[in-house]
Amino acid sequence: MPATPSGARGAIITGWGTALPDEIVTNVDLESKMDTDDAWIRDRTGIAQRHVGGTTAGLSTEAGRAAIEMSGVDPAEIDALVLATTTPDRMVPASASTVQNMLGLSCGAFDVNAACSGWVYALVTAHGLIAMGSEKVLVIGTDTLDRITDYTDRNTGILFGNGSGAALLEAVDGAGQMLGWDLDSLGEAESALFAEIGGFLQMEGREVFRRAVRLMADSATKALTSAGVSSDELALVVPHQANIRIISASLERLEIPMEKAAIVLDRTGNTSSASVPLALADALDAGRVGDGDLVLFVGFGAGMSAASAVVRWGADRGPALERPGRAGT
Ligand code: UT7
Repeated sequence: MPATPSGARGAIITGWGTALPDEIVTNVDLESKMDTDDAWIRDRTGIAQRHVGGTTAGLSTEAGRAAIEMSGVDPAEIDALVLATTTPDRMVPASASTVQNMLGLSCGAFDVNAACSGWVYALVTAHGLIAMGSEKVLVIGTDTLDRITDYTDRNTGILFGNGSGAALLEAVDGAGQMLGWDLDSLGEAESALFAEIGGFLQMEGREVFRRAVRLMADSATKALTSAGVSSDELALVVPHQANIRIISASLERLEIPMEKAAIVLDRTGNTSSASVPLALADALDAGRVGDGDLVLFVGFGAGMSAASAVVRWGADRGPALERPGRAGT
């Protein structure tokens, strides 16, 4: 479902943060656990290492705190916490509740599970909350995939790692940053990538690869169309960090040069819900995004889900509007 925001009440990102657990597993470390080698993994995926350890709530708290501090927002003023994760720490409650408590927030808090598209789903959801009257929303994407990855299975064990990325959204008068978005799901393909409760990830790698390229290109095209911009106007693309060859093939379809892509997968592997915000933060910290630049977020994942959003960076930070009929905090 692609859509163009009404422009009545938008949002801008005023802070961001990341967290990666200390423990690193390199490709060479994996050679002793499965029949693989460093050169093959680098060549076929672009990944050199991944981080393992930590908890979803712990990493989310670290990334979320950094985003709040950068924005300068008083935590008491945060209206909602949306946590994208496919690896919550427990079945119940939502990991967002634990994070809310650890950050000392007084607000609504809930998890969103759309696999590797999760952070973009959460970002769009947060814009919906802001359109309905929230003023400050913390959007976190975190996964601890080491808990559902079999590191003796060379089909999946080479790909996945843990991490977290967060952004603090603040309401502004007018359109804000987001110009267009798209959320998609292809439930008929869910058997290509799944984990039963208590089990490990199961994946048909080639099938996921094939569908991912098309899903990313289609979803990005819908978001670009709803934003009314063309791919050659983009300054930066922040794709889900699954495999460098998937990114390259989908950008080729979109006629976007690879130099415009934000890439962290060589250092992080596939961190699912965390991958887009980790890559975004890396690009922002490197000064790759200036005022007025158009940025495309595009994710895909199990489901199979896909999600895209087009933002214009540095939109005016006008005064927040009055909250329409909002109860609670
Ligand atoms: O968020 C979404 C998460 N999932 C994905 O994005 C997965 C998408 N799929 C992929 O990234 C790729 O399909 C993989 C990286 C999983 C596999 O790469 P591939 O190029 O599709 O490999 P393949 O399955 O076609 O296998 C090619 C060859 C085979 O050998 P032969 O038959 O050509 O002699 C495999 O046995 O590579 C061999 N192979 C490996 N060799 C070393 C497969 N996996 C490995 C491995 N190490 N880990």
